[in-house]
Amino acid sequence: MDKPKVFIANEIPREAEEYIGEHCDYIMWDFTKKKTFQEIVQQIKDVDGILEVGMKIDHELLKHAPKLKVASNISVGYNNFNIEDMKEMGVLGTNTPGVLDNTVADIIFGLIISSARRIVESDADTKAGNWEKGQMDKFFGKDVHHSTLGIIGMGRIGEAVAKRALGFDMDIIYYNRNRKPHAEEKFKAEYMEMDKVIQNADFLVVMTPLNDETHHLIGERELQLMKKDAFLINASRGPVVDEKALIKALQEEWIAGAGLDVYEKEPIDKKNPLLSMKNVVTLPHIGSGTKKTRDEMGVVAAKALVEVLQTGDSEYIVPELRNEKKED
Ligand code: DGY
Repeated sequence: MDKPKVFIANEIPREAEEYIGEHCDYIMWDFTKKKTFQEIVQQIKDVDGILEVGMKIDHELLKHAPKLKVASNISVGYNNFNIEDMKEMGVLGTNTPGVLDNTVADIIFGLIISSARRIVESDADTKAGNWEKGQMDKFFGKDVHHSTLGIIGMGRIGEAVAKRALGFDMDIIYYNRNRKPHAEEKFKAEYMEMDKVIQNADFLVVMTPLNDETHHLIGERELQLMKKDAFLINASRGPVVDEKALIKALQEEWIAGAGLDVYEKEPIDKKNPLLSMKNVVTLPHIGSGTKKTRDEMGVVAAKALVEVLQTGDSEYIVPELRNEKKED
């Protein structure tokens, strides 16, 4: 029997490529080249699977891939899947939940501490040779320990952040579509309505997936509810926060600062005002970026893709395409 054919659209770890090679025939994109939509379309005409497509999987793309059975993301986020179009065209999609939770939680804590204690700003100042005696108050920050952490979206990554917060003696408050009794017990997390979490948090961490319901979940109204000395932390997806509103909130000092790993447009526009704000820590979407975790994610995605091609099923098929009720 012929092996299934797979298009690898972006750079993937070597182990993942090897796994695909054992089970499939594959074409790999030359990652040094920028790809146009037309070029992608040429590659997917007769493939059964796409790995790490890095672009929208919607009707526009799918009509050029009549044999496609599965698209596999090397990410937990799958906002590039147009669920309705994929359902209609009988294409499954997989993601990589679980393996990256602790790595993303680490970077979220990094964003909390670095924005609260002005680490990036004072590092740049020190390196610029500006350290003088008697200037401790120049970089006064906000305590992280014994402060209140507000979590919006208590999924697996939310829980990994809560676990870290316990070590800092933080009070944890959270909002999630469904209450999480085990998280309440394990992390002494208190459930509140979303507005109450926003109003009471010293550090407001948004960790919801991006979909129609969560697009601009944090906008002007919500930013105005936040405490003046609070920080907004986003390492989920940029469009969960209305970036224009966030810029206004920071310029007009409705909040103290922000720690960001994600943006409405990525890579971020060089002229984006966020890049010149001292009270904003800006990372280039590196939440899951350790070699170990990226390698593991690549292998999970490759195995999920092959499993779907071989059996029509996988535990990594995203819930909406399995017709299962979402849990988080
Ligand atoms: C994810 O897995 O969704 C992370 O944001 C990395 O892409």
